[in-house]
Amino acid sequence: MDIRLRSTPPEDAAADVLALPCFEEDLRARRPDGSIGALDRKLGGRLLAAAKEERFAGGAESSLAFPTWGGLAAGRLLLLGLGKRERFGTEALRHAAARAVRAASRVSAQRLALALPGAGEADAEIRAAAEGAALGAYRFDRYRTDEKGRREPPRAVDLLAASPAEVRGGAGALDLAREVAGAVAWARDLVNEPAGALTPSRLADEARAMARTHRLRVEVFGPEAIRTLRMGLFLGVAQGSAEEPRLIHVWYQPGGSAARRPPLAIVGKAITFDSGGLSLKTNEGMLDMKTDMAGAAAALAAMRTVRALAPPFPVHAFMGACENMPGGRAYKLGDVLVSRSGKTVEITNTDAEGRLVLGDVLAWASSFRPAAMVDLATLTGACVVALGHWTAGAFSPDEALAAEILAAAATAGEDVWRMPLTDWVKDTLDSDVADMRNAGERWGGAIAAAHFLSRFTGGVPWLHLDIAGPAFSHKERGYIPKGGTGFGVRTLVDWIRHRADGAKARR
Ligand code: BES
Ligand code: MN
Ligand code: ZN
Repeated sequence: MDIRLRSTPPEDAAADVLALPCFEEDLRARRPDGSIGALDRKLGGRLLAAAKEERFAGGAESSLAFPTWGGLAAGRLLLLGLGKRERFGTEALRHAAARAVRAASRVSAQRLALALPGAGEADAEIRAAAEGAALGAYRFDRYRTDEKGRREPPRAVDLLAASPAEVRGGAGALDLAREVAGAVAWARDLVNEPAGALTPSRLADEARAMARTHRLRVEVFGPEAIRTLRMGLFLGVAQGSAEEPRLIHVWYQPGGSAARRPPLAIVGKAITFDSGGLSLKTNEGMLDMKTDMAGAAAALAAMRTVRALAPPFPVHAFMGACENMPGGRAYKLGDVLVSRSGKTVEITNTDAEGRLVLGDVLAWASSFRPAAMVDLATLTGACVVALGHWTAGAFSPDEALAAEILAAAATAGEDVWRMPLTDWVKDTLDSDVADMRNAGERWGGAIAAAHFLSRFTGGVPWLHLDIAGPAFSHKERGYIPKGGTGFGVRTLVDWIRHRADGAKARR
């Protein structure tokens, strides 16, 4: 699908489908101005008549399609509701663009023209519309041999800007959107790939191939090297599986003096399948557990964009990939594991495996002395209970880093909510035999998990994103498909971009 920028007025756009975003106010106005007014006049008043007839009021998530019967250059008109004008944000446009692409695919349209609403900053609208269109076209169908659900997206999408100046100025925003959408689609693919295919060693192969294509450095370690690094928590989780673990390190090394700047570090949870181990999950609870590497998918996908972002500092990603399985060699309840940092952990639940692997990998990442470190993990069901399926929880003792990540999530259009690291939850991790236990009580479970991780961060400014809710969706909503969502990629990209802008401004 080719996404382009044009300054053609909507009424002249030659396309199979012309998609026109509109606000509730536009449809209530007696004589609407802008594109709606122009198109309505061109259609002899039939646009507003049709909207009225079909009770289309421009509400967010609504849309209305009808043929133009030769009244316009475009064959069909699609009205995309954006809700109330004063509540408009680029996220509504991202969703609307995805709805337009899907509606166009449904009628096998080759060419889709999408008018930009012009309600906010042009670059932000271009980025959101392009991302929404590209992400709305995403499908995971490599395992389908039937025709069911197979619909080709339009070959070309023309984003209609208000002026040639906007088109010229928007080229950068469009490039960024293409880059980001490609990365998000790849993260979705990795998450959707079955655990039987995407084993820890396959994930490492994917990381290696990506690093080669995008000119990044990469190193992959097997069980012996992991043992040499004394990662007892990681090895404990991995030992119940017939699949070997892999420790994956991908990094971007800029040239010149930038190479010596303090790096950023990203850590991703990479459990390629979480059965729960001996604390076995139920069938229901295990059903989606191929997605337990979504944090690593987001980290790798963000790395894929770093060469293009070219920040003036190194960026590292670290992932401990393994399966959590019950087996003859599996780690047991009551076992005491010795972490890379030397701290000991009593195992009270083998299903609290993510924090164990992350503990050792965070300790390793912190030894690179990063300026800041962010981990992404499908860590707790408790976080899904707290925030639902569309919002990630952010835990950090560092106010400045928390503000930075929330700001990045906001410009990226991802929903992230700050959670507290309440001191009173800490004692639920007290152990009678070791420095700590790996699982506390049910209450405050997402906070306890974050406290556990915080003990392995070596004093580096750190933030933990619990993405157990938004990493995977059971419902299609706008540009968010069923299955892997690629959540976190856009926040990471904007975090790196904002940091790069700040570093360049200081020079
Ligand atoms: N991978 C799960 C968390 C999860 C649950 C992700 C649902 C996505 C959807 C994690 O490893 C886990 O099993 N956590 C336990 C921790 C508990 C045993 C302390 C949980 O949340 O139940
Ligand atoms: Mn688990
Ligand atoms: Zn897990």
